[in-house]
Amino acid sequence: MKVIVTRNYEESCMKVAEIIIEQVKKDPTSKLGLATGGTAQQVYPHLVEAYKQGRVSFSQITTVNLDEYLGIRPDSEQSYRRCMDDWFFDRTDIDKAKTYVPSGLNPPNMEIKTFNEKLYGDKPIDLQLIGVGVNGHIGFNEPAAELIAGVHIEKLTESTIQANARFFASESDVPREAITMGIGDILKAKRIVLIATGENKAKVIGKLLADDTVTTSVPATLLKVHPDVTVVIDEALAAMAGYKGCC
Ligand code: GLP
Repeated sequence: MKVIVTRNYEESCMKVAEIIIEQVKKDPTSKLGLATGGTAQQVYPHLVEAYKQGRVSFSQITTVNLDEYLGIRPDSEQSYRRCMDDWFFDRTDIDKAKTYVPSGLNPPNMEIKTFNEKLYGDKPIDLQLIGVGVNGHIGFNEPAAELIAGVHIEKLTESTIQANARFFASESDVPREAITMGIGDILKAKRIVLIATGENKAKVIGKLLADDTVTTSVPATLLKVHPDVTVVIDEALAAMAGYKGCC
């Protein structure tokens, strides 16, 4: 696993954006796996800026997002489709017909089929961006004795509901279920880039970087079995997580 330790979160976002830009420049038809969440959010302005400066074009890429809440309208502010449109898709030359964020409104079985077609109908994901939950979830794959490999409906844990309540009017408004790529889907991406920041991620990042075990009770640790993962964290988080590899 490659670890990049930056001076601060802002620098982490710039670094991750540059990795994505490099990928799209190398292959303008890249298939990108994208993520939402508060941490990944600040990566997108750097992509938009690079597009405005004429440094990169996203016109030929295809994208697939990690997850979406069930029961949420795509135009509601908390929907991941709306986030992606507002943060990235509507601000660049991306062909929106080639973007996919799972629908939280379609019948789950139908949407799982569509999700799989988007994931596997053409080529594998070249680069998958991910954040990590406070409890170590990736996508919405919550800690459990067994994880599900493929696309599925996940029941959110109390910890995730509480952590994501800040995006909703109240905790009771947070959807209780989500559709998500499974752990196996995430691990099939050719390259994975994880961004994390903040004290509340220290425990999980410690388990990922300062420990050599893999456990389904911290799903992010499964990333240790993938041959091409880059973790981008700031020095404050590296110190809190007990990561010593940096200096
Ligand atoms: C949500 C998303 C995850 C994301 C996580 C972290 O739960 N489903 O994909 O990694 O949030 O979010 P944040 O960066 O806001 O802590």
